[in-house]
Amino acid sequence: MSRHIVLLSGSNRFNSQSIKVAHYLRERLEALELCDSSELIDLASSPLPLWPEEDTQKAWSAQQSTLKKATALIVISPEWNGMACPALKNFFLYAGLSELGHKPALLVGVSAGLGGAYPITELRASRYKNSRILYLPEQLIIRNVESIFNSECPSDENDMRIRARADWVLHVLCQYDDALRTIRTAIKHPPEFSTGM
Ligand SMILES: Cc1cc2nc3c(=O)[nH]c(=O)nc-3n(C[C@H](O)[C@H](O)[C@H](O)COP(=O)(O)O)c2cc1C
Repeated sequence: MSRHIVLLSGSNRFNSQSIKVAHYLRERLEALELCDSSELIDLASSPLPLWPEEDTQKAWSAQQSTLKKATALIVISPEWNGMACPALKNFFLYAGLSELGHKPALLVGVSAGLGGAYPITELRASRYKNSRILYLPEQLIIRNVESIFNSECPSDENDMRIRARADWVLHVLCQYDDALRTIRTAIKHPPEFSTGM
């Protein structure tokens, strides 16, 4: 059973802290030998036009084929004005059931301060409908992100603790990946229920 994990960095700022977090988690997936392959979608270097947009084929079709191969996902959002990043919300207008349906996803909130919970609650509340992405009950909130994941060795106790938790939730994500494979093939989607209730 090959495992392909796609990481989605939801910040549209270049050199964002979110992309730093994405690179770190991807390195950990490889160091812990948790997956056969991984890919990164960066909404800063591969932006999607605000939906709807006619000329989307290039950016979206590349992301679409990446997502279709995913067996599990990691969705990273910065907290901006107490919200999930708008680029990420726009992404979920493109990505649907055929790319994300019943795939496990680890949510990661990122904050330069003590925030980071709002984007997670927002995504849990509204960014699963239609796509049927399955967010894990576990999550990661990277607070004071500028002092976390900067070098090989942890800089302080907080950095050490979040690294240990990150390794643990990556293992949990893989357990969900194993468990959800039969569900994806078993569930049928009648067209009349495609948009939920
Ligand atoms: C427009 C904007 C609004 C922000 N609002 C918040 C906020 O409400 N709460 C918070 O904890 N951090 C906020 N921040 C700081 C981010 O947490 C910080 O930029 C962090 O590095 C994550 O964003 P990045 O991945 O784009 O770097 C905001 C940043 C920007 C650019």
